[in-house]
Amino acid sequence: MKVGYCQFAPSFGDLDSTLARLSRLAGSMPDADVIVLPELCNSGYNFSSREEALKLSEPIGDSRFIRHLEELARKMNAYFVSGFNERDGEALYNSSVLIGPRGVIGSYRKIHLFMNEKNLFKRGDAGINVFDIGACRIGMLICYDWMFPEVWRIAALKGADIICHPCNLVLPGLAQKAVPVHALINGVYVVTANRIGREGAVTFTGLSTIASPKGEVLHQASPAGDEAFSIEIDVAAARNKMIAAGNDRFGDRIVDEYQYLTR
Ligand code: ACM
Repeated sequence: MKVGYCQFAPSFGDLDSTLARLSRLAGSMPDADVIVLPELCNSGYNFSSREEALKLSEPIGDSRFIRHLEELARKMNAYFVSGFNERDGEALYNSSVLIGPRGVIGSYRKIHLFMNEKNLFKRGDAGINVFDIGACRIGMLICYDWMFPEVWRIAALKGADIICHPCNLVLPGLAQKAVPVHALINGVYVVTANRIGREGAVTFTGLSTIASPKGEVLHQASPAGDEAFSIEIDVAAARNKMIAAGNDRFGDRIVDEYQYLTR
């Protein structure tokens, strides 16, 4: 199967422009099976107020952005993972949605909020879930979650073969160092789809990355250009957790020694 990403700059508050450009980029990869899009792809990132973030949010069950991706997924017979500014009643979540040819399959609400996000969004409260799409099992994390090895481990322990990671990264080069290490340590593929461009004083850093269960960087995008890229992966490689003869990444864990982590 082929996994890929679209690296581009969603247009702040201009859904028509975002949908046109993401459709063109995704459409240039007609044989991709799983396509990851950046964080907060339906709205943009740098909100001046909670009211502005609220105005540009949508409920998962009634979203023009999601209906568009559902249509694209149907036409391409593909799956999309996209960052999504989610409204649920009065609450806002910085979410990620998994959409397939038959519609929405699942979602994730970002647990580790970055800088001003803490003033806009509720912390994720729906756990870390893994979704079986037949050809593989998909886990989702978002951007600053890259800093917390615990959540990568949970997604992998729950059976993820691929961790899809929509991003709006602003700290140059840090997550791109960590992602191949998370991939290696957990024996999973990671697709980090970052955005590019500028919103006010915030500059986004591109370098979207696909990493293998061996920790290899299979591909990395440019720091500032639009890019659609997909690559063939071997899902079986993410299901073999052996790291040496007699050493299993998961089987060798000594969880009794890890209790300190939950203090
Ligand atoms: C980030 O979490 N958007 C840096």
